[in-house]
Amino acid sequence: MSTAYLFASGKGGVGKSTVTANLAAVLARAGHSVAVLDADIGLRCLDAMLGLENMVVYDLIDVAKGDCLLSQALLSVPDLPSLHLLPAAQFARSKDLDVKKLRLIVNLLKKEHEFVLIDCPAGLERGLRGVLHSDVEETVLIVTPDDICIRDAERTLGLISDKQLPRPRLIVNRLNNDLIFSREMYSAKTVSEVLDLPLLGEIPEDPAFCIAQLRHRLVTDYHCDAREAFLRIAGRMTGKDTPLPAYGESRAPFFRRHFPGKLREVSR
Ligand SMILES: Nc1ncnc2c1ncn2[C@@H]1O[C@H](COP(=O)(O)OP(=O)(O)OP(=O)(O)O)[C@@H](O)[C@H]1O
Ligand SMILES: [Mg+2]
Repeated sequence: MSTAYLFASGKGGVGKSTVTANLAAVLARAGHSVAVLDADIGLRCLDAMLGLENMVVYDLIDVAKGDCLLSQALLSVPDLPSLHLLPAAQFARSKDLDVKKLRLIVNLLKKEHEFVLIDCPAGLERGLRGVLHSDVEETVLIVTPDDICIRDAERTLGLISDKQLPRPRLIVNRLNNDLIFSREMYSAKTVSEVLDLPLLGEIPEDPAFCIAQLRHRLVTDYHCDAREAFLRIAGRMTGKDTPLPAYGESRAPFFRRHFPGKLREVSR
């Protein structure tokens, strides 16, 4: 039994690719077989995020056009053999992708993997034009806790329902515990109530992302709050009743606020 997740957003830059890559890695590390499909044609990034940028030979468009087999285009992550990536094309455009072929590819990936995670491009038209109608089990809308992002998410919701995609669950990204506590940022609960969507997860704003990026690594390779957030979301994706962290309900302890400590790598 395989589950395909579509990660979408209205506004760009809210963390779709980051969330897709880290959830894929966490699920693969927990022993699940995972395929990531980079559907951001022309602006691929998951190959770089997963450390595979020098290994790309064929891509999604090559498979869709029949220029290679799916197995030839699929890359496996060296230290995570159960994680595979189908990279996006670098020099094509989203209109070059035949939707029927995309659906076929998703179904082929589902035959071989427990989880198929699809990273959508941002934007209403570009992002969801080529999207699938009946082949994804879960749609996940990623938002940051600000009015513009929420407004764009509302518009995306309309498009998602027009396309008869599953009603999304929500991941609220870049939350700041203390700002929520002092009522200077919306909590994930507020965003979820405004959009009337159930929460799949909450991810804090975390400087560990910058450090990980500079080292060409994933943030989940390090002990940090963001990693804990991804572990909780992955738990929920695998049917566990992991509680939401509810950032902002109390202030972080003094020492945690002022002395974050050195970033330690997760041992394998
Ligand atoms: N919780 C977070 N804390 C700190 N930085 C973050 C967080 N989430 C994402 N970022 C950073 O935000 C930037 C944008 O993330 P990402 O590329 O994943 O967004 P995206 O939604 O895929 O963008 P696009 O719409 O262009 O595809 C990246 O530099 C990433 O490291
Ligand atoms: Mg992206």
